[in-house]
Amino acid sequence: MGWKLSRARREEASGTAAGTAESDAGSIEEVSGALRGAIGRVHLKQLAAMEAAMDGMALLTPDGAFVYMNGAHARIYGYEGPAELIGKTFRLLHPPAVLEHFERDVMPVLADQGHWNGEVIGLRADGSEFDVGLSVTRLDDGDIVCICRDVTDSLEMESEVHDSHARLERLTDRLHAIREEERATISREIHDQLGQTLTGLRLDVAWLKDRLPPEEDELEERAGHALRLISDALDGVRDLAKRFRPASLDDLGLEAAVEAYLRDLGKMTGLEWTVDGQIDGYHLGSRRATAAYRILQEAATNITRHARAARVHVRLWVEDGELHMHVHDDGLGITDEQIESRDSVGLTGMQERARACGGLVTVERADGGGTAVNLSIPLEPTGA
Ligand SMILES: Nc1ncnc2c1ncn2[C@@H]1O[C@H](COP(=O)(O)OP(=O)(O)O)[C@@H](O)[C@H]1O
Ligand SMILES: [Mg+2]
Repeated sequence: MGWKLSRARREEASGTAAGTAESDAGSIEEVSGALRGAIGRVHLKQLAAMEAAMDGMALLTPDGAFVYMNGAHARIYGYEGPAELIGKTFRLLHPPAVLEHFERDVMPVLADQGHWNGEVIGLRADGSEFDVGLSVTRLDDGDIVCICRDVTDSLEMESEVHDSHARLERLTDRLHAIREEERATISREIHDQLGQTLTGLRLDVAWLKDRLPPEEDELEERAGHALRLISDALDGVRDLAKRFRPASLDDLGLEAAVEAYLRDLGKMTGLEWTVDGQIDGYHLGSRRATAAYRILQEAATNITRHARAARVHVRLWVEDGELHMHVHDDGLGITDEQIESRDSVGLTGMQERARACGGLVTVERADGGGTAVNLSIPLEPTGA
């Protein structure tokens, strides 16, 4: 055995299979025999790896007949082993609609880009259908390599997550609606019952005061004091009723309600405000108007609590079939961490309210400083 063979063995051991042409005929045979052995062993290893794989793997001729297939591929499609499918066409493994989809959409992509990934319906040996993920590659000589995986479970899980997300959104929406109804009821009861009782009381006390004997100064002073207390209580009741359910939202519409809210807030805090409304003539609907109003309330409360702003500007307009609201303050400006934080319950609440109407809220540091809250809500139902 010459040096050439031992070199070939070294190459075999190191896994490389490069050979060199030699003039010595006997040695060449020895070398090529050893090389064939090495290459064979590499192939065997590759085959063993493919057989052990959990994903299905197959090699197909350009016209779609199986040349090779691992056990997993056959099992995924409900066959006992590859022997049942070798030589047969992949068309056995999918329903007609999928085959049409292959011809129409997949083949052109394969021809153009050499690769296609996707999920389709597979047909098992017993005729049952399942979801299969395919990764298909076209080799230079036109042969096709196909890797497949049963994705029924992951698709089911995905759709369950999607369903439960949709259920949660409906629930949140319902909770908001219930809360608004409750607020409206409480507001009415406070306003009507307490308000009317206090109004009656005020009339009675005033009547009594008028009829006090003229010399009873102390009684008259007490009665005057009682009247002032009753008036304060009435103001309080009206404020409370308004806070629970702004009457102006139903009666005067969103823009007037926003103005009334900011006017009250401005009186209490000194915050200057402007409203630029261009929504006259649009029918917003009570749900959307309420959502926008509550979002404004949260944004404005945040401004008084966190922004140290002097001014707030609110713009309301309709564009491309969407109601837009822009609330901009000239304060410190919100930080990215605060925007991203999961603890930002108020910000999350704004987003949920908007989403319940198919809309969107973004909060950002405004270009010229301060914070901007942007809302958009489609005016047409989104179909969701
Ligand atoms: N207009 C604003 N200007 C400055 N910081 C703000 C503004 N709005 C919100 N923030 C910041 O974002 C945080 C989250 O807001 P929010 O979710 O409403 O929570 P909360 O008002 O209960 O603190 C606030 O704590 C505050 O730090
Ligand atoms: Mg808040």
